[in-house]
Amino acid sequence: MTAPTIAAGSKSLADELGLPLIKYTQRAGKPLFDMVLERQDGRLQLRDLRENAPGPIHVDFLDDAAAWRRETTGKRDMLARAVGIKQGVERPLVLDATAGLGRDAFTLCWLGCRVIAFERNFIVYKLLEDGVFRAFESDDEAGDAVRRRLVVGRADAREYLAGLAPDARPDVVYLDPMFPERKKTAAVKKEMQYLQALLGEEEDAAALFEAALKFARKRVFVKRPLHAPPLAAAKPSNVHEGKSVRFDVYVIAPH
Ligand SMILES: C[S@@+](CC[C@H](N)C(=O)[O-])C[C@H]1O[C@@H](n2cnc3c(N)ncnc32)[C@H](O)[C@@H]1O
Repeated sequence: MTAPTIAAGSKSLADELGLPLIKYTQRAGKPLFDMVLERQDGRLQLRDLRENAPGPIHVDFLDDAAAWRRETTGKRDMLARAVGIKQGVERPLVLDATAGLGRDAFTLCWLGCRVIAFERNFIVYKLLEDGVFRAFESDDEAGDAVRRRLVVGRADAREYLAGLAPDARPDVVYLDPMFPERKKTAAVKKEMQYLQALLGEEEDAAALFEAALKFARKRVFVKRPLHAPPLAAAKPSNVHEGKSVRFDVYVIAPH
């Protein structure tokens, strides 16, 4: 049997994240860790080693899922309405303050918005960054959109907003904070299962919302499960409902 090799770049990634670099994931048939970050087929993926865990996740804006999203996004799309896209009006500059795996950020960018997306969890951010780097290298249309209009950064968006110069304020701030799942149903997508296992519940979404309302020029919008109460019990200006989620929109009075 040949010993597994360590993919190029793994040492610097492990150093950057302060994580151990390992060659083997199991000993005597038992996983040594709950999760590992690994390079597979030229991409970075996160794999849960525990029993009954879903398969690995990675970020790929160019794969089938992203292609499907591109084909189904349009002016009538909920996200387009929630962000305030209007015919003949310049697309807004959007701060995605909870970037996660970048799906919504990518869709907004695909819709023509300029997007700055922040993710504070280092592991989630590394998956996102890897997806962005691979999109950069592609000459696909989606790669072009990412190169032109999507910037990702690792930071707490609250700190970023607090340090912004007045003329750098985004038109729109988008929030999709983690929401505690009541049960583990098959409907909970594997990406969300990973995020839940990695991040648990977030306590500070209300504070992020407050900062968003203070610094957005035109609007803040928040993704919520369809029947959940509004974030921080704040009554939205309008609501766009889908099958399982809704977007609560808060229009900012000029200030
Ligand atoms: C539900 S996920 C977002 C999913 C994302 N909309 C997508 O399309 O992939 C929420 C993410 O927001 C991140 N997050 C929460 N609060 C944050 C903050 N203050 N600054 C930056 N990231 C934050 C969490 O680490 C988590 O990865």
